[in-house]
Amino acid sequence: MMASAITYLPGKEPHVREHRLIFKNIDRVGYDPSIECYEQNGGYVQLKKAFTMARADITNEVKKSGLRGRGGAGFPTGVKWGFIPPTNTKPVYIICNADESEPGTFKDRYILHQDPHQLLEGMIIACFAVGAKLGYIYIREEFPMAAIIVEKAIAEAHAKGYLGKNIQGSGFDCELYVHRGAGAYICGEETGLIESLEGKRPYPRIKPPYFPAALGLYMCPTIVNNVESLCHVKHILEMGGETYAKLGTPNNTGTRILCVSGDVVNPGYFEVEVGKVTMGEVIDVLCGGLKPGRKLKAIIPGGSSAKVLRADEVFKLKDGRELTIMDIPMDFDTMAACGSMAGSGGVIIMDDSRSMSWVINNLNNFYAHESCGQCTPCREGSLWMKKISDRIVAGTASPDDVDTLESVANQIEGKTICAFGEACSWPTQSFIKKFGDELKGDCKPELAGKVVAEEGAIAAAGLVAV
Ligand SMILES: Cc1cc2nc3c(=O)[nH]c(=O)nc-3n(C[C@H](O)[C@H](O)[C@H](O)COP(=O)(O)O)c2cc1C
Ligand code: SF4
Repeated sequence: MMASAITYLPGKEPHVREHRLIFKNIDRVGYDPSIECYEQNGGYVQLKKAFTMARADITNEVKKSGLRGRGGAGFPTGVKWGFIPPTNTKPVYIICNADESEPGTFKDRYILHQDPHQLLEGMIIACFAVGAKLGYIYIREEFPMAAIIVEKAIAEAHAKGYLGKNIQGSGFDCELYVHRGAGAYICGEETGLIESLEGKRPYPRIKPPYFPAALGLYMCPTIVNNVESLCHVKHILEMGGETYAKLGTPNNTGTRILCVSGDVVNPGYFEVEVGKVTMGEVIDVLCGGLKPGRKLKAIIPGGSSAKVLRADEVFKLKDGRELTIMDIPMDFDTMAACGSMAGSGGVIIMDDSRSMSWVINNLNNFYAHESCGQCTPCREGSLWMKKISDRIVAGTASPDDVDTLESVANQIEGKTICAFGEACSWPTQSFIKKFGDELKGDCKPELAGKVVAEEGAIAAAGLVAV
């Protein structure tokens, strides 16, 4: 179909600053998740092309594209695929991480619901490239419709010979299965996910030695990739790695989907070239600005685990640049240089109506609930952080509590089995660093040095103790 023929639902038209690859068919008039619709729009052509290529060449194209994982860490996808030991004789698995549990992130669900075959095509190409005959799509419990839609898509792909034995006469056999999670944030962490897929409690594994590419599912080499990352594979084959790499900016190539929520006029999803729009453009151009009469206060730029940025900060970079928050290009490297991370693309905008004590308390409640409990600093620390910030919000905390809160966070970071430890301590550390005065201002100075009866404080505030 010609690009000019594409129309979108009213209010869902792409912004002129967007560059749609992955979301080209999302909220498009007349587009449905059936395989017929997908094929009519050029679907599965790249899979057929993949079968004409040497496996190593597919991985090389992905390496050349510079694609970095869209699940959070931004690790180069082709490099990850190349980690499978060349001498390996065990089965190889591919797992699609469709847990999408990072607060503020809401992109993968659109692909699962509206364009599931795009994911399947990318995943089957990935399976072929790394020699995986089995792949799993791990879908979070909270997406029941997505699981049904993707299972139907798998059956359709089977019926048309894109899955199963001797796919399209290539001699390659491949099966994909949906696995539904039971509803836990930690199942998004790749080794927790693998444990869950094996039927166990999702306790993350320690790395090293359990890097999935070497010791993953059933202790076999396993590639875990995010939904969006796998979708890019088909476009990389279509364009060629070098042409794909011209999208975006050096070392931050391609497009990515930003999920913008919070205090803007038009929150939503936006697929942009990585690093080609600034934070200011996201707010003012893509999202239509802040709500009337409001001032920007803070931004969490990459999902709730990313460190908060203050509206009035000036970021001095090693290369000499000085950036305001509005100048920051939306890419992995600059966001890291500004002290936070681009993470999973969940951009949470907060205006001056927001209480920072309330925000950090909200986050701490989430992390205390989601800690898997395997390591003491995280299990105990996340609960302590929740309880202390409960007190700050209730107005029953002493200013000393803010110092205690910071010290608890500092004792979690870097001392745990998985990166949840950082995910839960970075928000607290950064909110105290950037908004410590506001947090202390919500405390009662007269309580300094006194022991607060915590359960009583919680009861007095009408909050429920965990
Ligand atoms: C606590 C925690 C939660 C995570 N949740 C998700 C998730 O919901 N989806 C996801 O794709 N990656 C998530 N990740 C990252 C995965 O561990 C893994 O890096 C990612 O799936 C790899 O895919 P990518 O290279 O394509 O980004 C999470 C990581 C941590 C530490
Ligand atoms: S850091 Fe937290 S979530 Fe990760 S393994 Fe330890 S207790 Fe579990």
